Amino acid sequence: MKVILLTLIFLATLNAEYTKPVKLPNITFEMVIDKDFGVMQRNCQWCHSFGYVINQGNQSREFWRDVVVKMRDVYKAPISQKDEKLATDYLYRYFGDGGKK
Ligand code: HEC
Repeated sequence: MKVILLTLIFLATLNAEYTKPVKLPNITFEMVIDKDFGVMQRNCQWCHSFGYVINQGNQSREFWRDVVVKMRDVYKAPISQKDEKLATDYLYRYFGDGGKK
């Protein structure tokens, strides 16, 4: 009886397929392509888009270093010491507050 019920539940999910085409917006986030952009692509982009970076606005060097450290320590991104510095430099270069804060 259980097997029959489970089979029916499974078969019901097969019918739940959405058949109409869904158009997804094509969103691109502009980043400066310089010598360190490869570091950003290698270390950040496989988890999420650069939208997260752009949405933070211009921030201090400490802010960006803390973000990179958080990605490594909390979300377990395997970011090397060298890349941690290069990524922080890149972020501060293009999304820095110019030392205002
Ligand atoms: C292992 C996966 C992973 C990698 C790699 C990664 N992130 Fe994240 N990132 C996350 C997760 C998970 C969140 C939180 C998402 C949420 O809250 O919706 C996040 C959020 C963020 C945010 C939003 C602010 C915050 O503190 O939550 C920023 C900015 C960010 N990441 C930047 C970066 C940068 C820069 C890199 C590369 C150095 C990077 N991430 C690499 C997983 C990753």
